[in-house]
Amino acid sequence: MDSRARQPNLRADGGPLLAALRGQGSLPAPIWLMRQAGRYLPEYRALRKEAGSFLDLCLNPALAAEATLQPIRRFHLDAAIIFSDILLIPRALGQAVTVDDATGPRLQPFGEAFPTMTPPAEMDGDSLDPVYRALKLVKAKLPDGVGLIGFAGAPWTLACYMIEGGGSKDYAKARAFAYGNPDAFERLIGRLTTAVADHSIAQVAAGANVVQIFDSWAGVLPAPALRRWSVEPIRAIARRVKAAAGGVPVIVFPRGAGVLYRDYLDTADALSLDTAIPVDWAAAELQGKVAVQGNLDPAALVAGGETMRAEARRILGALGRGRFVFNLGHGVLPETPPEHVAELVELVRAWRP
Ligand code: CP3
Repeated sequence: MDSRARQPNLRADGGPLLAALRGQGSLPAPIWLMRQAGRYLPEYRALRKEAGSFLDLCLNPALAAEATLQPIRRFHLDAAIIFSDILLIPRALGQAVTVDDATGPRLQPFGEAFPTMTPPAEMDGDSLDPVYRALKLVKAKLPDGVGLIGFAGAPWTLACYMIEGGGSKDYAKARAFAYGNPDAFERLIGRLTTAVADHSIAQVAAGANVVQIFDSWAGVLPAPALRRWSVEPIRAIARRVKAAAGGVPVIVFPRGAGVLYRDYLDTADALSLDTAIPVDWAAAELQGKVAVQGNLDPAALVAGGETMRAEARRILGALGRGRFVFNLGHGVLPETPPEHVAELVELVRAWRP
């Protein structure tokens, strides 16, 4: 028996995405898009209507599986990302979460949910079960060679939403809490580190063959705080996940980290680049040590046409010969015309140096 066949997560059944995360560069570069399932797709809007609220959709395995598969059917992308949300972890720790169409996520005030400012040590495992059931349904229907990505928010980004009670422009309240209550904050980050690792490992057990950790708000932290509350917890998570799950590849997205992207090099198999990272810098400083993913501006995908094509070629020109996964620098915007996505996929598949 082929030695790889005994380790399900090391089999080449993730196709081009797994090959890029593990190996050398190959052409065409694999492509998938953050937030590839969502409101820009009419079939998603229909499914949302059927499900009711956004969280109802996340928690309905059959409908979440369908939302995951919609962009794969339409665009033949190289990976599916499970349809879910990072806020299911705060919810599993006992904090009430709603996602309102107009105002975005709302979380129960931190002190009310956790009077000691510390969530419980254990998550309510049942509340995450729909995610694992959805992954199994997707796995059974996914075409050969298409990767299946499980994900979680990083502890810092989860703490931001948990403490603020929702989105914010700069997470000043979360930062002030962290600096002012270092012991309580350290306990919170510790709890979240365990929760994120557990949830990631369970997603791999349910069929994910890649895990992506989203630290969407890494960029609001000064360097020492970023190292302590973003880099270190992510390193601990990646180690635990890789040890428990057959070396499954981990992609880290430390959005806004700037030159501190270098600090994440030994935490990940791939770094997902935000739109601000210069691609030549990434080629010199990051690629080669790890694979890189990114970093087309989602607004260029909205604009389409020659702007989109020139931007995509500029990124491919700098990164396309090495270990590279084509993606956006952040999620697909709701106003994106689906036909621009189709054109982008075609361009990436046809591109040669
Ligand atoms: O990428 C995918 O297609 C998989 C699904 C996915 C969603 N959220 C679905 C979603 C993923 C990977 C996420 C991650 C996520 N969720 C992040 C990290 C990535 C990032 O964007 O920085 C964050 C910060 C969240 C929290 C969250 N969820 C916010 C701030 C919002 C409201 C903003 C918005 O875009 O509406 C959500 C809701 C959400 N999560 C939607 C989707 C498709 C929109 C809800 C809807 O109307 O159906």
